[in-house]
Amino acid sequence: MPDAFIATLPKAELHVHLEGTLEPELLFALAARNEVALPWPDVDQARAAYTFTGLEHFLPLLFRSASVLRAGQDFYDLAHAYLTRAAADGVRRAEMFLGVQTFLDAGVPIACQLDTVLAAIADARADLGIDGALIVTSQRHRSQAAALEVLDLIQPWRERIIGIGLGAAERGNPPVKFAGYFAAARARGYRTTIHAGEDGPADYVREALDVCEPDRIDHGVAAIDDPELVARLRDEEIPLTVCPLSNVALRVVPSMAAHPLRAMVEAGLLVTVNSDDPPYFGGYVNDNYEAVHTHLGLDRATLADLARNSFRASFDDPARVAAHL
Ligand code: ADE
Ligand code: ZN
Repeated sequence: MPDAFIATLPKAELHVHLEGTLEPELLFALAARNEVALPWPDVDQARAAYTFTGLEHFLPLLFRSASVLRAGQDFYDLAHAYLTRAAADGVRRAEMFLGVQTFLDAGVPIACQLDTVLAAIADARADLGIDGALIVTSQRHRSQAAALEVLDLIQPWRERIIGIGLGAAERGNPPVKFAGYFAAARARGYRTTIHAGEDGPADYVREALDVCEPDRIDHGVAAIDDPELVARLRDEEIPLTVCPLSNVALRVVPSMAAHPLRAMVEAGLLVTVNSDDPPYFGGYVNDNYEAVHTHLGLDRATLADLARNSFRASFDDPARVAAHL
């Protein structure tokens, strides 16, 4: 039974990869539509394959599944499905990542990706009252030059893209590799966010702050190992977009009961709760709130604080943020 308090709690979702919201049913529909072969015979077996040993096991499967997205309509359908689901979860503001390089590699033009996602955002605002925003991400296993090319490519959409991010394989690809990318993104007027301290160490979170100067850190759970860094994150009020079910599914933590979210909250960090790649990790944003309620004993007042944090940490206009607090 979904918890009614959580279900109706107004919230923002700040860490969700659109390509990671592809439900197996839509995956198979798009594979058929675009004549792309999949490694599973049916939806049930695809779902059964969603068991991971870690981030580097998960990412190739994510990229493979995402390769079924080929036409503009596919991107529209994907974004529409996620926004519909999010609105049902009480999400009022959704800042969604799109990792455009995966699709550029497959020959999908940038306009085909961005125009359709932006159209789905506009339609969902009109039809569902949900406020969507787009953050374009680059992949850190590629070069900084490739990430800078993304900035050039998306420049015609500058005013309609709220932020720039960085995801994919963290270990071995430290933040310093992308210092120039973040500086260039800031110079172009984007808000910025970086995955750090997911399966990488606390040092990557510190380095991200020092050399990338992001507005937010995605995940950041490794920071809890480093009291000095925790104090800095608290004092500088750096938001952390934490994804509890993702962290369990990718074995960043051994179990939900062992997740550091409670410790992060108690340390005074500006923590938010998010879904990352919901069908792959067993749930949407409310499932994440429910998991931390059940397994970490976070009470309703704390869940409401987390939801308020999500608006405070958003890239929305301050006046609209204030209306949610
Ligand atoms: N891309 C999609 N999900 C991701 C995650 N959990 N970490 C890094 N990159 C991602
Ligand atoms: Zn992520």
